[in-house]
Amino acid sequence: MALAVEGVDLARATAETQTALIDALHDNLVLCMRGQTLAPVAFRDAMARFGTPMKRLQLAATPECDEVNIISSEDRDELGDGKKLVNGASWHTDDSFMREPCSLTMLYGVIVPSRGGDTQFVNMYAAYEALSPEMKARIAGLLVIHKYQSSRQTNRVSRRPESEMKAMPEAIHPLVRIHPVTGRKALYLNANRMEQVVGMERAESDALLDRLIAHAIEPRFQYRHVWRQGDVVIWDNRCTMHKANADYPEGERRLMHRVVVA
Ligand code: SIN
Repeated sequence: MALAVEGVDLARATAETQTALIDALHDNLVLCMRGQTLAPVAFRDAMARFGTPMKRLQLAATPECDEVNIISSEDRDELGDGKKLVNGASWHTDDSFMREPCSLTMLYGVIVPSRGGDTQFVNMYAAYEALSPEMKARIAGLLVIHKYQSSRQTNRVSRRPESEMKAMPEAIHPLVRIHPVTGRKALYLNANRMEQVVGMERAESDALLDRLIAHAIEPRFQYRHVWRQGDVVIWDNRCTMHKANADYPEGERRLMHRVVVA
């Protein structure tokens, strides 16, 4: 899992390079392109070669391009209590509270702290494949309700206006997904957004989801990305989970630009 590529300028990638990058992403799940210099519009345009960039209202956007969101050490719950927030600090896959979650996420390290602030990933194909045959049979065909504000949430999320909340009612997704390109099965979990397994008693559902999350985040399925300024990291949300870490020194800045594609 995970591949770092040097010497590719994403703003000028040829069609051949682009095809090679997409193949490498399907094989490695997480792809890092080092040494990029991309203003917001150029970042969005480079990412548009991987899919159609989507606007996401839950995060602030750059003034230059509203498809480029900001994830920053200065993020606050502006419409809520105004306190500091660490977006993405628990294990999740992006957008699972939506009925049509994004497929890929691209994160660009604009300012990275001197240490800490890594992003951790887990390989959800490997997590699925390592389940016992009994567990695979137990979870086959199960569906899970995901919500923006789940009652099981482990990391505070920003408060959103009523109109926006109405536009993102709960979503139902399979617990095991078949990746549309690779055809492989992957566990589909989100510690921060899953509410309950459809048709299962709450206590049984909580126990099952907790057990599957604990299994999926075992170190043997993990990759930890240590950021360098100028890294663009792309991951496939259909077969990974990830988690931000806010463990960098007090007073240091971390600024990421993010694009998600349909
Ligand atoms: C995210 O969850 O999309 C952001 C991850 C990070 O900031 O490391």
